[in-house]
Formats: sequence, C-alpha cells, structure tokens
Amino acid sequence: GRMKRIVTGIRPTGPLHLGHPYGNIRQMIELTEQHDCFYFSADYHVLTDKAGRIEMSDMVEDNIIDLLACGLDPGKCTLFKQSDIPQVPEFHLILSMVTPVGLLERCPLFREQVKELGIDNPSYGLLGYPVLQTADICMYRGEVVPVGQDQLPHLYISADIAGTFRFRYGDIFPVPEAKIMEVFARIPGTDNRKMSKSYGNAINIADDEETTKKMVLTYYTDPKKPRKGDPGHPDECPVYYLHRLYLEGEPLDEVRKGCESGERMCFHCKGDLADEINEELKPIRAKREELKQDRDTLNNILAAGAEKARAVAADVLSECRKAIGIDRK
Ligand code: TRP
Repeated sequence: GRMKRIVTGIRPTGPLHLGHPYGNIRQMIELTEQHDCFYFSADYHVLTDKAGRIEMSDMVEDNIIDLLACGLDPGKCTLFKQSDIPQVPEFHLILSMVTPVGLLERCPLFREQVKELGIDNPSYGLLGYPVLQTADICMYRGEVVPVGQDQLPHLYISADIAGTFRFRYGDIFPVPEAKIMEVFARIPGTDNRKMSKSYGNAINIADDEETTKKMVLTYYTDPKKPRKGDPGHPDECPVYYLHRLYLEGEPLDEVRKGCESGERMCFHCKGDLADEINEELKPIRAKREELKQDRDTLNNILAAGAEKARAVAADVLSECRKAIGIDRK
C-alpha cells in the first residue's frame, strides 16, 4: 500500500547530546524504512524566543550534520530547512484566518513559556507558534507527526486548525495525528537527572574525547559506595545503567559483580565508561568532521530536500489559494 506521510521538525537550538541518538533520532531513522518522511530543521521556530540576531545558519548546519552523522540517510527521506520553503509563511497566514485567538491563548505551552521566561508582552509570533507548526505539517500533507509527549498541546491545536480549514474549504490536506515517540531509554545525565542541555549534565556528541572523559568522571554514583570495598548497588547507579548500553554478556557481568562485591572502584568504573562512550561516538564524530569539511555535500543535500518539499508545498498552496477564492478555480 501507500506509505504514510510523516512530517516532523527539530528546532536547531544547540549541540546534540548522548540522550538524543538513543531516543528521537533513532526513531526518526527507523521511520524512514517504512514511511515517506519529511524532516526539517525548524529555524523560524527558534526565533520565537530570541530577542536579537543569532547565527541561525550555523545552528541549522550543526543540526543537520548531527542527524546525518547519527545515520539518517537523506536518500530515504526528504531533509530540508523550514525557511527554504517560501510557501510556508504564506500558508501560515492563510491558516491564521481560521485560528481562534482563544485557542492559542489557552495553549499550556504558550502559558508556560510566558511564565517561565517572564515575558510580559508576548509577541504575535510566539502566540502563533502552533499555527506555524500546523503550516509546517499540512504544507506537506503530513498524516503522522512524531513528537515528544510535551508537544501534544501543539498537535491538538494543529488538528483543530486543519479540521476547521477542511470544513470551510475542502479536504486539501489531511488532519494530522500525533505519534508519541517513546524515548528508547531515558539517559541519565552526570547528576542523575534526565540528560538535558539546560541542566549542564550532558555528554555532547560534538565534544572531543578528553572533554567527554572529564565529564564522565563527574558522574553521580551510588552514595552508599563511597570507598573501594564497600558493596555497590548497580541497579541504582547511572554509570551502571550506561554500561548496559555499551556492554553485554561477560564484560557487563564483570562490571556488576565488581560493583556488588565492592572490588571495583567507581573511579575506574567511570573511566571505563568514558572509553566505551568515546568508542561508540568515534564514527559519529568522524562523520561530523567529514561533513563539516564538506559544505558542498551538505548544501546539495539541503537543496535536493528543499526542491522535493517545495513541489508538494506549491501544490497545496495553489489548491488553497483557489479554495479560498484568491485565485480562480
Ligand atoms: N515545536 C517542535 C518542537 O519544539 C518543533 C516543530 C516545529 C515541529 N514545526 C514542527 C514538530 C512540525 C513537528 C511538526 O520540538
């Protein structure tokens, strides 16, 4: 049968960390096997909470390089940047006409942002964030939208806007549906909280081996095992948790036994983990470097993706312009 059209965007906000390849990116890669996937770097969406110039094109480049280095195959999906598709802002304008302000004001994510960032005069763009996101999806006739749980309020608004548009003007694009990406593994950061850029507890893919080693040596470990000889509790330790991602069988058993008996010092356990992580990241880091040196390849990938995306976008927009009466049928 026909492959479902998947659409999702990633905000290019900074370096990827270890939490990412095991979670969302791995799922994005798997989805390309069975679906027609449109993936883009959502650069406009980063502007909603920035007050001045940022080096956005560098951030997009890093974002795309990370995805490619982690194994996303641009031949198996349509990979592009949001702002390369000029139909999106026009479509966003059209969709804004069927979007009640109240729907946007009630969005819990909008309220949270306004409160958390202490914004006393929110911009029209921030309020309209979900409308732009709806344009991103419906522009390419997206049917399924893989997102984290946190994005559900946005997808609820998208379904509402798409439904209203279809009711008034006809079914030019489907009503999109969220697909929650279950996080494969909740990767613990160095302080044992969830790994996150904003907590400063992340192991970044783009770091060098030395930096990774230093960072891993700061990992929180079982507080009941302060000295060599004290029996540890591997199931409560983030370092053991991470060893499980890199080792199996005999070597993993040895880590567990050494910890439980107290034989193994946490310091050495962390040193070994750093080596395992560096080993695993080696090819990803090499691929990153290679892509960074080769702007042409990167530009060609984005140009090819944008061309494919624009073809669909132009079709949807022209149908919309006719449907609302701006263009003759
Ligand atoms: N809002 C999404 C996020 O913060 C990013 C995004 C922008 C997106 N446009 C999208 C996600 C369209 C899915 C579909 O993660």
